[in-house]
Amino acid sequence: MASQTDTDVTIIGLGLMGRALAGALLAEGHQVTVWNRTAAKAEELLAQGALLADSANSAVNASPVTISCVSDYQALQQAFASISDELDGRLLVNVTSGDSAQARDMALWTEQRGAHYLDGAIMAVPTTIGTAEAVILLSGSKSAFDREQSVLDALGTATYLGADHGLSALYDVAGLSMMWGVLNAWLHGVALLRTAGIDASTYTSFAVQIAQGTAGWLAGYADQVDSGIYPPDDATLATHAGGMAHLVEESERLGVNAELPRLFKSLVDRAITAGQAEQSYPVLIEQFTQESRTSSHHGR
Ligand SMILES: NC(=O)c1ccc[n+]([C@@H]2O[C@H](COP(=O)([O-])OP(=O)(O)OC[C@H]3O[C@@H](n4cnc5c(N)ncnc54)[C@H](OP(=O)(O)O)[C@@H]3O)[C@@H](O)[C@H]2O)c1
Repeated sequence: MASQTDTDVTIIGLGLMGRALAGALLAEGHQVTVWNRTAAKAEELLAQGALLADSANSAVNASPVTISCVSDYQALQQAFASISDELDGRLLVNVTSGDSAQARDMALWTEQRGAHYLDGAIMAVPTTIGTAEAVILLSGSKSAFDREQSVLDALGTATYLGADHGLSALYDVAGLSMMWGVLNAWLHGVALLRTAGIDASTYTSFAVQIAQGTAGWLAGYADQVDSGIYPPDDATLATHAGGMAHLVEESERLGVNAELPRLFKSLVDRAITAGQAEQSYPVLIEQFTQESRTSSHHGR
């Protein structure tokens, strides 16, 4: 019987990321079967020992584990159009970017065909695949994750999140929200300091200090959110609202875009109107768990 590290693996999709995944598995000594809509992209991998399947269906049937990595779910649907109804206990690991509903639908589609499903989100660029730096979030079948962990570890730091197939996509977008939150706040600060002739490089060591200090509060605040009790041990929302008014006014006075501080302030003002002025900042979770008043969904 083959040992776990000998597991054959199929890769569907040989774009920048798919080729990196296939390369990492070949480097670990796995037999790798590949399929891509444009077969020419397989050439380099074939020279390294990969096998080329003539259809996505035969590719999936060539290995107990298939990893799919195409542009989006529409591409995935087209790539999988030829897949037969029986997947016979195989494992599909889909690392195509998408949302949590698409991941859960894909899990259903896979399980209806008798296969196991892990949904993945790759938090890395192709050049880091195969190193510990490449974090790969996975959610779905725990037993499949455990069984094929050596395959997943060959791709990077494989991180299991839970049985709900939507979790990888949710962590993915939550991480993006964190990233853009920090980046936009930093840029707003750069714009403020620029009005005084301070360049971004000079300001940024202070910005990093503030970002790291704020990040240090999150674990304690998470306890407040989880318990639903918001003791104002550090500052009340009323105090935050005063600082925010100042930030909005200073931005407007200096001719700096004030949309971001106005958004901060409108969230806090709503919480204060709801009677939460004397609670601590994380009580604002209640503003985030409600649907936005200016939702981007139209025609409801
Ligand atoms: N690159 C990154 O840094 C990165 C990082 C994290 C996550 N990801 C995710 O990984 C996935 C792949 O990204 P990538 O960088 O490899 O993209 P890419 O280089 O643009 O490759 C796209 C892949 O999708 C295939 N494809 C597109 N439309 C198709 C269709 N209608 N039918 C069949 N195959 C189709 C392409 O096939 P052809 O070769 O025939 O066009 C190609 O294999 C995306 O979901 C992306 O968000 C990428």
